[in-house]
Amino acid sequence: MTTPALPPPPDLLDGATQRFRRADRFAYHYARGKLGGDVIFAELLRQGLLPATPRLLDLGCGQGSLFAWLLAAAELHAAGRWPADWPTPPAPVQMRGIELMPRDVWRAAQAFGGAHPQVRVEQGDMNHVDFGQCDVITILDALHYFDHERQREVLMRIRKALAPGGRFITRVGDAASGLPFRLSNWVDHAVTFTRGHRLPRLYCRPLAGWKALLTDVGFDVRSQSMSGRLPFANVLLVCDMRPRPADAPAGHAAPEVSEALA
Ligand SMILES: C[S@@+](CC[C@H](N)C(=O)[O-])C[C@H]1O[C@@H](n2cnc3c(N)ncnc32)[C@H](O)[C@@H]1O
Repeated sequence: MTTPALPPPPDLLDGATQRFRRADRFAYHYARGKLGGDVIFAELLRQGLLPATPRLLDLGCGQGSLFAWLLAAAELHAAGRWPADWPTPPAPVQMRGIELMPRDVWRAAQAFGGAHPQVRVEQGDMNHVDFGQCDVITILDALHYFDHERQREVLMRIRKALAPGGRFITRVGDAASGLPFRLSNWVDHAVTFTRGHRLPRLYCRPLAGWKALLTDVGFDVRSQSMSGRLPFANVLLVCDMRPRPADAPAGHAAPEVSEALA
């Protein structure tokens, strides 16, 4: 029998979502549904998957729900209202988001205003924007919106943008999982459409394909199911950088990234 996961601190959802009232009704209700209903946000904190003070880059960040969640967690912790049995939440020194949809960028601007100089959400396409240097990069449910060749290119650029010891965290669908995958794809189409996109073509892979690609690009990959109670095929991939040859201590050759990827 598995032990049920501890629920997130009760004030966290309110703290994270109130700021979206400054934008529009959609922003607030979307944040409540997303942060309250999607298990990934609690798991990032419960499992302590982020380092203490990272420079964080979230690609396809939407209205910045992840940033609001992390800010609220850090605020609760600073106020002494963080549960003792959860790891200390991270206090990112930089939270930069890249988002395609101008409306979401506007919502983020309303929600964060100038009150949090460490938060910046920019309108742009992750296929073209310079990633700079960071410690953690996330892509939550957005890699499958562009084709396989561009996925590989983005992942290679992520690998280059991460400082030594950096981590890439992503969630993907497992195209080999049958009905749960078809269901999550159907919901993805519907939600994407209501958010103002045209019905997109989605570029999916079986879990084994995602892992092989990420390993080839230069990551050590751990996976875990991340659908919560929903009958989906969502998988969290925690990808830690394998040292580049230049990072390895003398006499300890690091595994090579394949010629084709370098
Ligand atoms: C399913 S939503 C997830 C939003 C956010 N990651 C979250 O968890 O709330 C995917 C987001 O990726 C954005 N997106 C898709 N392709 C993108 C691209 N090439 N560059 C930047 N953002 C992109 C979409 O506009 C959408 O906001």
